[in-house]
Amino acid sequence: MLKRVITFGTFDVFHVGHLRILEKARQMGDSLIVGVSTDELNFNKKGRFPVYTQAERAEIVRAVRHVDEVFFEASLELKRDYLLKYKADILVMGDDWKGKFDEFSDICEVIYLSRTPSISTTAIIEKIRE
Ligand code: CTP
Repeated sequence: MLKRVITFGTFDVFHVGHLRILEKARQMGDSLIVGVSTDELNFNKKGRFPVYTQAERAEIVRAVRHVDEVFFEASLELKRDYLLKYKADILVMGDDWKGKFDEFSDICEVIYLSRTPSISTTAIIEKIRE
């Protein structure tokens, strides 16, 4: 059976850490679906809008060759619905989320992958600001 992998993220100011987790996630199965968080979700979560708009972030993620499908994640509360809607067999997240999604292991396999060290959107923004 073909395995469908799903992952979620903001993917703002796209960097190599993003690219690597998408590549590794895709290698876990046969196709990769990515939930890109909306601008509003980010504002509610972090109190600021991303640098790139959701349309730009989705366009960039969609262009990555490891990615088969992109949708917008509008609410953190809808995770289970998204997993069911996109028939995910495997949920992949960076290990900054370790343990946080174990509740979904009744409907899919949950895998946490180690983050690429020393890079993040926040760090890039701070570096440019300095
Ligand atoms: N990610 C990763 N390695 C990094 C940075 C991010 O593997 N160095 C992964 C995250 O674990 C997540 C996905 O990429 O699964 C999307 O992360 P996102 O939060 O959009 O990126 P960050 O760079 O962590 O953004 P921020 O600094 O705003 O938290």
